[in-house]
Amino acid sequence: MVVLISGTGSNMAALVDAAEDPAYGVDVVAVGSDRRGTRGVELAEKAGVPTFVVPFRDYSDRAEWDTAMADRISEYAPDLVVSAGFMRLLGPAVLGRHTAVNIHPALLPSFPGAHAVRDALAHGVRVTGTTIHFLDEGVDSGPIIDQVAVPVEDGDDESSLHERIKAVERRMLVDTVGRLAREGWTVDGRHVRFGRTEHSVTDATDTKEQR
Ligand code: GRF
Repeated sequence: MVVLISGTGSNMAALVDAAEDPAYGVDVVAVGSDRRGTRGVELAEKAGVPTFVVPFRDYSDRAEWDTAMADRISEYAPDLVVSAGFMRLLGPAVLGRHTAVNIHPALLPSFPGAHAVRDALAHGVRVTGTTIHFLDEGVDSGPIIDQVAVPVEDGDDESSLHERIKAVERRMLVDTVGRLAREGWTVDGRHVRFGRTEHSVTDATDTKEQR
């Protein structure tokens, strides 16, 4: 898989750690970013994982950037792209060529967008959490694969709540991505099931080409 990040990369680092065990069934073939100089890219380099950066500001529009990103990802021919703290919307060039999943720090469909933790706190919810879902061209709108709830505590601020969510999402991400790789998956409308019937990591590219 190729993992995409924009910042700290703690979720990516959890995947890289898990992938050290051959039984996990996943190779992280590259880590990509839309920003130069991130801690996540530095961590990946230290772990010996190839990295690439496709800075948004180097392109005249979103479509050009999306094509450049798709080309860089394709060099590694991944079976799956994992957006883990990647803060830009991927467009038709990337999503037309690759199957991608994303983690989001809220229980979708509540609180989509870039400020999910802040928005959940402002709304006064007592329970929030994290969601892993397939990416489509909407904002955090693709079919949901798994979710884990995290209670909001009195006195939480955005940072304390986000740290507790991130601890939970690292476990969920590692568990879910491993299962997708080992078991394959089926998407029926909004419903995702593990198991190799229609879609699997090994036939993911073929499936895209058939669309
Ligand atoms: C995570 O909470 C993820 O859900 C959100 O951004 C955060 C990334 O954290 N999209 P990290 O870069 O993996 O530490």
